[in-house]
Amino acid sequence: MHALLNGACNSLRYQKTRTQIDRSRKSGAGQLARWACIAMRVKIIGSAAGGGFPQWNCNYRLSRAARAGVPGLRSRTQSSVAVSADGTGWVLFNASPDIRQQIAQTPELQPAADAPLRSTPIRAVMLTNADVDHVAGLLSLRERQPFAIYATAQVLATLEANSIFNVLDPAIVPRRLLAPMEETAICGADGHPTGVVVGSFPVPGKVALYLEQGRDPGADFSSDTGDTIGVRISKADGRGAIFYVPGCARIDAALRARLADAACLLFDGTVYTDDEMITAGVGPKTGARMGHIAMSGEAGSIASLADVKIARRIFIHINNTNPVLDENSAEHAAIKAAGWEVAFDGMEMEF
Ligand code: MLT
Ligand code: MN
Repeated sequence: MHALLNGACNSLRYQKTRTQIDRSRKSGAGQLARWACIAMRVKIIGSAAGGGFPQWNCNYRLSRAARAGVPGLRSRTQSSVAVSADGTGWVLFNASPDIRQQIAQTPELQPAADAPLRSTPIRAVMLTNADVDHVAGLLSLRERQPFAIYATAQVLATLEANSIFNVLDPAIVPRRLLAPMEETAICGADGHPTGVVVGSFPVPGKVALYLEQGRDPGADFSSDTGDTIGVRISKADGRGAIFYVPGCARIDAALRARLADAACLLFDGTVYTDDEMITAGVGPKTGARMGHIAMSGEAGSIASLADVKIARRIFIHINNTNPVLDENSAEHAAIKAAGWEVAFDGMEMEF
């Protein structure tokens, strides 16, 4: 940490009143000092993959058990994480179709009691790909409320090509390019920094399902040029450094090197085995075909990251066929024994 921040933090830690914090907000150094004294908060607001858990039309044993209230199977909403550097403004990482429910379940994301008649603590939304489970929630954030959208060129082009997203007037909700391999200070629509900094990097994935339409289903839809990204999330003072990678088809040496020494990794936990949806009888696709590496197996995420130093490793974006959803399953025990956790809605961390 910067010496200035260290000093400021030591003298100010746990001592500042709200008025002092507001006063220090006025100068850039004061802003940094304020951020330095507050931990970065991370809330998992949606831990399931597309469809959620239980999925509306799914009659597989796991969804049935969750509906029946069997102990050890928690319901989960679709893929989204909220991060705050200052405890008041929030950056959403992906906007899921369940966003209204997620905001209702998360008081920090609701208008403050003393806020204007129309207000939100959500300052920005960052998108890791253009999948329905990650962008459809944008449509629920209409109502001429300012916030900023950050995404790669491919994802911005997809929003641009689908005129329904014009319910978010770009004059009110600016769309900003998240440059690959760069650190971006995430700012609200008004240009004020949120204190959250994002470094983005492409990961092996594929184009969104609806972009496959009209093309040969046997074609190669894989992509590693920015249709899907992973992000490193930290505070403006450099603290934090957690990684969020909700979709990833393969783990290569470059990704392993990037993740080394992470304080926390939130990683693609869509399927436990590659052919899980086929053996469950719910669909013809493998995890690989969907752009998701399996947890288990020699080339799976557990084995591929076993010797990478990561303080805390958590699976997120869990599909409704994944047996780890049952906390009493052998698979859940196996991933815990391997040092992994399974994210759940409402899970909260500080860095
Ligand atoms: C995925 O993660 O593969 C997608 O969210 C699937 C989908 O669009 O339903
Ligand atoms: Mn998804």
